[in-house]
Amino acid sequence: MIEKEEHFSQVMMMYSCAIREVQTKLEVLNDDLKSRYQRNPIHSIKSRIKKPVSLAKKLRKKGLPVSVDSIKGNINDVAGVRVICSFVDDIYTISEMLTSQTDITLISQKDYIEHPKPNGYRSLHLIVEIPVFFADKMRPMRVEVQIRTIAMDYWASLDHQLRYKKDDMDENYRKEIEMRLKRCADMITATDAEMLDIRKNIYGYRI
Ligand code: GTP
Ligand code: MG
Repeated sequence: MIEKEEHFSQVMMMYSCAIREVQTKLEVLNDDLKSRYQRNPIHSIKSRIKKPVSLAKKLRKKGLPVSVDSIKGNINDVAGVRVICSFVDDIYTISEMLTSQTDITLISQKDYIEHPKPNGYRSLHLIVEIPVFFADKMRPMRVEVQIRTIAMDYWASLDHQLRYKKDDMDENYRKEIEMRLKRCADMITATDAEMLDIRKNIYGYRI
């Protein structure tokens, strides 16, 4: 039992190191782009390690064994990094610059900006693999990277908060809330497009 717990905390430590590696790469890109173009394409970066209860819940939901090996083999979002960009084109610039680095392997990509979810959710999701060098071994580690604008993040935060509340809501009331959220998502899409256009009008068609 104790041995298993140690194994679990060691694996979580490995994921948290993978987050630091990815986060550093993103900070380097932001610094370099800032010195070239005098503006920050990245507004902020947040990261998190999935909590043990959430890991167990996800494995049970998928009908998979709840074990450390099962976590390593089946869950791609143990390590999560969220990159909040100023403008929509920054999302693709950062994604392209990160995934074209020779030590990064792109495992999968979901473009919910080009193809938003029916509820209005928009973001670019990447699963990347990065080699991390530990005391006695190198391990390729997976990290989920979500890239979105400030406005998309604002929307997703509210949507996330309401997700838990929605189960207790009356059916019609819930539908009304979902409709209003979808309308906000549409307004945010239009605002993001307009803000990008304004920036391009001021600075020209460069980063
Ligand atoms: P999981 O949702 O992680 O089980 O995996 P999936 O394969 O369905 O991944 P997907 O890329 O669709 O979503 C992964 C993550 O994106 C979620 O854990 C959320 O953090 C975020 N996300 C996806 N859809 C929504 C949404 O409708 N609203 C909000 N607020 N976040 C979402
Ligand atoms: Mg997830």
